[in-house]
Amino acid sequence: MQISVAPFLFALLCLFGISRASQQNDPHFSVNNEKGRGRTLPKKDNSLATPVVVQINFQQSLGTITTHFVGVTIDTGAVEHNWATLDFSSKKVQTLARALVPTFFRLGGTNADEMTYVLDTGRDHSDHSTIMAPAKPGFNMTAEQWVTINEFVQTVGWDFIFDFNALKRNADGSWNPDNARQLLQFSADRNYTIAGFEMGNEYDHYNYNKYNTTVTPSQLAKEIVSLQSLLSEFPKYYGSFIIGPETGGIKEEYFQGFLAAGGSKVVRAASFHHYYFAGADRILSRFTDVKIMDSFKLQVDSVFNQTRSVDALLPVWLSETSSAYNGGALGQSDRFVAGFLWLDKLGVASSKGIQTVLRQDFYGGNYALVDIDLNPNPDFWLTVLYKRIVRGAVFNATGRHDVRVYAACANTDNFKAGSLVLYMLNPNNYSVTFDMTQLDHMPRQRYTLTAGDSDGLVSKFVSLNGKKLELVNDELPDLKPEMAPSGLETVAPYSYTFLVFEEARVSICLH
Ligand SMILES: *[C@@H]1O[C@H](CO)[C@@H](O)[C@H](O)[C@H]1NC(C)=O
Ligand SMILES: *[C@@H]1O[C@H](CO)[C@@H](O)[C@H](O)[C@H]1NC(C)=O
Ligand SMILES: *[C@@H]1O[C@H](CO)[C@@H](O)[C@H](O)[C@H]1NC(C)=O
Ligand SMILES: *[C@@H]1O[C@H](CO)[C@@H](O)[C@H](O)[C@H]1NC(C)=O
Ligand SMILES: *[C@@H]1O[C@H](CO)[C@@H](O)[C@H](O)[C@H]1NC(C)=O
Ligand SMILES: *[C@@H]1O[C@H](CO)[C@@H](O)[C@H](O)[C@H]1NC(C)=O
Repeated sequence: MQISVAPFLFALLCLFGISRASQQNDPHFSVNNEKGRGRTLPKKDNSLATPVVVQINFQQSLGTITTHFVGVTIDTGAVEHNWATLDFSSKKVQTLARALVPTFFRLGGTNADEMTYVLDTGRDHSDHSTIMAPAKPGFNMTAEQWVTINEFVQTVGWDFIFDFNALKRNADGSWNPDNARQLLQFSADRNYTIAGFEMGNEYDHYNYNKYNTTVTPSQLAKEIVSLQSLLSEFPKYYGSFIIGPETGGIKEEYFQGFLAAGGSKVVRAASFHHYYFAGADRILSRFTDVKIMDSFKLQVDSVFNQTRSVDALLPVWLSETSSAYNGGALGQSDRFVAGFLWLDKLGVASSKGIQTVLRQDFYGGNYALVDIDLNPNPDFWLTVLYKRIVRGAVFNATGRHDVRVYAACANTDNFKAGSLVLYMLNPNNYSVTFDMTQLDHMPRQRYTLTAGDSDGLVSKFVSLNGKKLELVNDELPDLKPEMAPSGLETVAPYSYTFLVFEEARVSICLH
């Protein structure tokens, strides 16, 4: 279906000015020097034609975006497929991976539970007979596969988080750490640095037939303590952190139950997973639906309520997340359109104080940042830009029901201290003008992202300021902003924009 609407969408984008260069030369499209009189398009709802008034509260920060706020995952299923087409020795893959540094990288997911580490070190003779096989035939991770991922992680500088095989269980149902201990010994012998660990994946979903296993929240809390004592056997991993409960949902009995049963005393962060809808649904309009965007906010509120009822300070991590579960929506979750939900998620998560968001995934499935041919998808570019542009305190910015607006300090690695970044999403088929009251008088650096070709929303490409982003000789091109004058700001239909105000000198952003 998207094939037939694509040309129409592109026509729309052209009609409404996909290219800013042409807008600026055409008096018909000029908005910036006519304060208060934004360009209006014929629309049924005239209220949408008036500028969106943006007011930012600079007095107070809602949260802080750290260097490690956005991270990535690879699903353990990729090990089962022997990494499929992901060639870790490829210079291109390493370049793409390095572009995300500093970052956490999680190797985890459903298959983590049924994976056996067969390391054949020749030095471990522990009795395996007590380890029950998972109910479902599992698979092995070989020493070679483990060495490959660890060497890659070290080479590119990712901070590794590994998810243990929690379905290795004793006859009494408790976790059997023998195989995990073997993996840690193997890793310590090779001096592999592993920043953090998890125990299994989405236990709240594990009472289903595939495993016929139920792990109660209090049992999981006990097992997290076992994991902590296992780590303490290894000086190399004694200081590594643990996150949990890694629930697929946010049901109180599980998420809060785990924290209240002692989990909160062990974990560095309370962690949960989030997807908006099922991959099989493939309903394109959901990707630009602000009601879908808002559904995430309620979940985050609930997660914070539950966490705070147990611990006043414990950080919250969104440790596996994407648009659609079960591998993403084919031809949608890895296209330009996916950026709306992804960028909004980063805006909501940072505004609500979530410390870390791990994107499912770097590679694999229909929601990857890097495709099976090892080329970057649109969300790769968005993620890199986000890391380069946004860092530090987050501020409350007002918007309007049909758009999304977020404000934060700009990353001082790339911008003057005190700089502010405002990013706005226009997930509509009409253009929107923003009156940024406190900022209108300042020039700004602009990064506008639009569909990269005539496939429109389902384009495999994204353009930055009208230029399609692609690797150049396996290197990233310069991701340069365009200099834009003071005035109101108009955001084209189906696009999103980052504006950096280096003159803002926001006091919270100066330090
Ligand atoms: C996993 O490794 C064990 C021990 O080497 C072997 O017996 C078993 O067949 C392997 N399982 C799979 C699914 O390859
Ligand atoms: C082990 O790794 C740590 C951290 O990367 C490093 O500081 C240390 O020198 C390494 N030790 C050896 C023996 O290679
Ligand atoms: C599931 O587990 C229960 C209790 O351990 C056992 O009685 C039952 O036979 C198991 N069912 C299957 C299908 O394995
Ligand atoms: C969170 O708690 C507040 C205050 O108790 C309550 O008003 C709100 O409805 C709760 N929100 C959710 C999503 O649970
Ligand atoms: C942001 O500001 C608006 C308008 O003043 C207010 O309604 C909202 O509660 C604020 N949000 C936060 C998270 O402070
Ligand atoms: C924009 O979208 C609305 C609702 O989705 C639709 O009714 C309208 O015809 C569209 N307008 C244009 C110009 O495509």
